[in-house]
Amino acid sequence: MLSAGRILQRCDALARHSELPGGLTRVFLSREYRAAAEQVLGWMRDAGMRAELDAIGNVAGRYEGARPGLPCLMLGSHLDTVRDAGRYDGMLGVITAIECVAALAEQGKRLPFAIEVLGFGDEEGVRFGTSMLGSRGVSGTLDPAVLNTRDAHGVSIAEALRQFGLDGSRLAQVARKKGEVLAYAELHIEQGPVLEAEGLSVGVVSAINGFSRLRATLHGEAGHAGTVPMHLRRDALAAAAECVLAIERIAQSDAALVGTVGRLEVKPGAINVIPGEVQFTIDFRAPRDTLRQEAVRSAVDAVQEIASKRRLTAAIEKIQELGVTACAPRLIEQLERAVAAQGLHVRRLPSGAGHDGQAIQAIADVAMLFVRCKGGVSHSPAESITEADAGVGARTLLSFIERFEPRS
Ligand code: HGY
Ligand code: MN
Ligand code: MN
Repeated sequence: MLSAGRILQRCDALARHSELPGGLTRVFLSREYRAAAEQVLGWMRDAGMRAELDAIGNVAGRYEGARPGLPCLMLGSHLDTVRDAGRYDGMLGVITAIECVAALAEQGKRLPFAIEVLGFGDEEGVRFGTSMLGSRGVSGTLDPAVLNTRDAHGVSIAEALRQFGLDGSRLAQVARKKGEVLAYAELHIEQGPVLEAEGLSVGVVSAINGFSRLRATLHGEAGHAGTVPMHLRRDALAAAAECVLAIERIAQSDAALVGTVGRLEVKPGAINVIPGEVQFTIDFRAPRDTLRQEAVRSAVDAVQEIASKRRLTAAIEKIQELGVTACAPRLIEQLERAVAAQGLHVRRLPSGAGHDGQAIQAIADVAMLFVRCKGGVSHSPAESITEADAGVGARTLLSFIERFEPRS
């Protein structure tokens, strides 16, 4: 029997695996991630699934269909978090999928397809900058060279995998072949205000916005804060400040575009030293790839212009880009039928946030079901959902699973 109470309790349980005292931060391949992964493996096995960690660190569970080895309907979401995160972004989707499988297993139900539930190990990309490592591994779109990417402590992904007891050279074994995955469906909190504003528990995603992630490094000249006259300075932080405002202006130029500078690091970072070097990130999102790509071009030009005007140099590298992912009409219809079967109003809406489906769409059609979250708040400890909405989400997902038509 589906239990919304158990879903919320399990989100609370996973929230305890955190590096942040009094808050939730759980990054890829950390000690906290191992504890959370072990807990999810146990819940998957209790739900009648075979479950293991795959070679890129995803928690992968499988519930066989009417006979062993059938292609699967893949469900899931991610188990890593941003810094000082909420406890539902990612985890709600994994736990609800396990809850649905448990309900099928309790009834001894076997479907004409298998079900796989993936707890992706890295969707946020907090530790290594590049994101969706787990889902890109599953879709076979992860370039092995990415395993050389290093975190802030200089540890590469390959080393982190080794320290975790995994072997990054077996990456190819994680990749699913076309045909093995009939479709991918992810339940996720909306992380936006639409469902709450319209008094709806759930919504069906039409498309996932594309994103561009860049890293800019400005090189100026460190110097004594007390002795260098202003007109002789090549202050990297003053230049970066001008860049941040230029990026904000570019993002404000179109209502469908959003732009964010989320991280900024100052060197050497002392009160009495003129900053010689600043590194900052740039994140653009849009529902149209041309709009986003134009914003990226404008931002790169603006940063270069500001740097040269101030006699600095600027290096800008693209960390990652994924285009707009349209959800499959056939799956949207099936999800909307599941929503209607609950007697609920059907609402289709786009996703401003990125999701693992953008990686999985390389091997399967994708669909997403959004669950209302309080105030649309996410990527914050204030993230919150109601037990009632968790229940609606679970019943809708289970209805979709039981009536899933692989080809329609
Ligand atoms: O950044 C995003 O949109 C997602 O939370 N990784
Ligand atoms: Mn997120
Ligand atoms: Mn998420």
